[in-house]
Order: sequence, then C-alpha cells, then structure tokens
Amino acid sequence: MADVETLHAIADAAASLQVLIQDAIEWKRQHLTDDLLSALIAAEDEGDALTADEMGEQVALLYLAGHETTVNLVGNAVLALLRHPDQLELLRRDPGLDAVAMEEFLRFDSPVQMSRRITLDELTLGDKTIEPGAFVVLGLASSNRDPRHFGPSADRLDLGRVDAGDHLSFGGGHHYCLGAALAKLEGQTAVGRLARRFERIELAGEPVYNGRINLRGLASLPLAVG
Ligand code: HEM
Repeated sequence: MADVETLHAIADAAASLQVLIQDAIEWKRQHLTDDLLSALIAAEDEGDALTADEMGEQVALLYLAGHETTVNLVGNAVLALLRHPDQLELLRRDPGLDAVAMEEFLRFDSPVQMSRRITLDELTLGDKTIEPGAFVVLGLASSNRDPRHFGPSADRLDLGRVDAGDHLSFGGGHHYCLGAALAKLEGQTAVGRLARRFERIELAGEPVYNGRINLRGLASLPLAVG
C-alpha cells in the first residue's frame, strides 16, 4: 500500500496530466485530421455523451494504456531473445518472421498479466461455480502458457510456433485492446530492427524488473551492442 505522500504525488501528477491533456485537446480542435483524438472531438461536438472531463479521462487512458504496455512488450521481448540466442539468430536471418515472432513474444511474456471482470450471471468453469456479482481476476499470462492449448513446449520461446497468435495478451470480447494492431506494429518494428541492426547484443548488467504485479516489465535492461 502506498503511503500518504505517494498518494498525494499521484493525485498531483494526474491533475498536471489533465492540464496538459486539455491543452492538447484545445490545440487539436483547431487542427482536426484523420486520427483518434479528432474522432473523439467530433463525437463530442455532435452532442454525443462525452463531457470535457470524460474526454480528458479517455485521452489519459489511451496514453497510459498505450505507453507502458508497449515499452514493456519491447523490453520483455529483447530479454527473451537474449535468453534464447538461437531464436535471436532466427530473427536476424529472417525479417519475414517479425510479425509471427511478435505474437510469440506477447504469448511468452505478457506485458499485461491479468484483467478483471464482475460476473453478471452464475458461471461454471470446470468443477467450480462462480456466483453472480463476483470480482474475478483472469490470469491472461497463465492461459498463455497453458500446455493444454500450447502443448508441452508452452514454457519455451519458439518463434516458429504456428498458434502463438492464440494468446490472450490483449484480452477478449467487448473490451479487447483498442491498440492491439498499433502495439504489434511498434513492437515488431523495434525488436526486429534492433536484432538486425547490431551483430552483437549482450546484457551489460542485471535486468531489473519494475516490481508491478499486473504491468510486467523491466525498470532497466542494460545492453551492450556493437
Ligand atoms: C503490448 C501492448 C498492449 C497490451 C499487452 C495491451 C493489453 C490490453 C488488455 C489485456 C486489455 C483488456 C483489458 C480488459 O479486458 O479488461 C486492453 C484494453 C485496452 N487497451 Fe491495450 N494493450 C496494449 C497496447 C495498447 C495501446 C498501444 C493502446 C492505445 C493506443 C491501448 C489501448 C487500450 C484501451 C483503450 C483499452 C480498453 C478497451 C475497452 O475497454 O474497450 N492498448 N489492452
């Protein structure tokens, strides 16, 4: 549990972020184009349900949901490659692997480990019954390593895995990640380019995890390249 000082710092940071966001929305209002923020502004102007505060919160959600997750995807993927040099070699030799490799990185070390739901109806899973109104934590990362789906090699990084894209790292159903396509494109560009840009990529120190339960990623990943 965070101390009171930290909670105040979080509240101050959130308020400062909202000031920046409201400025950005005002700027965008004068420079509408074919992008998501312009579409949100257009929806608001057409009398849709978004108030100024709600729009500010939506933009904050997009920024936060889209930034740290993708940073962690790239870091986790690079570390996975360093721990599996044979797979790094495969990626170096074949740029055609970038897209499928990204599915495997998402499966192997999910930047979002869990999502949550509240059940509306009674639900039976295996021999367990979950009551309506229960708060349920869904282990996305755990399902990504389920040997009943991915077979006995589920714990191994395999860039040639044909069903890697069956992972649940972007959730599912109505709330499936809005930024999934963007995140994959950013991730595969960054990791593929890095792999082929340098002949030598090595750890230059111990990787340090960020310590978060849900947004799994690295606080630092020192690399030596050449
Ligand atoms: C590797 C990168 C990313 C991962 C692993 C990820 C993961 C997820 C997951 C698991 C959910 C579902 C949450 C739930 O079911 O409760 C989600 C939702 C969402 N994501 Fe992502 N995300 C990533 C990148 C992005 C990016 C780049 C954006 C935006 C630019 C984004 C925007 C969103 C939004 C707005 C939602 C909420 C969708 C809704 O509730 O309808 N995400 N994401």
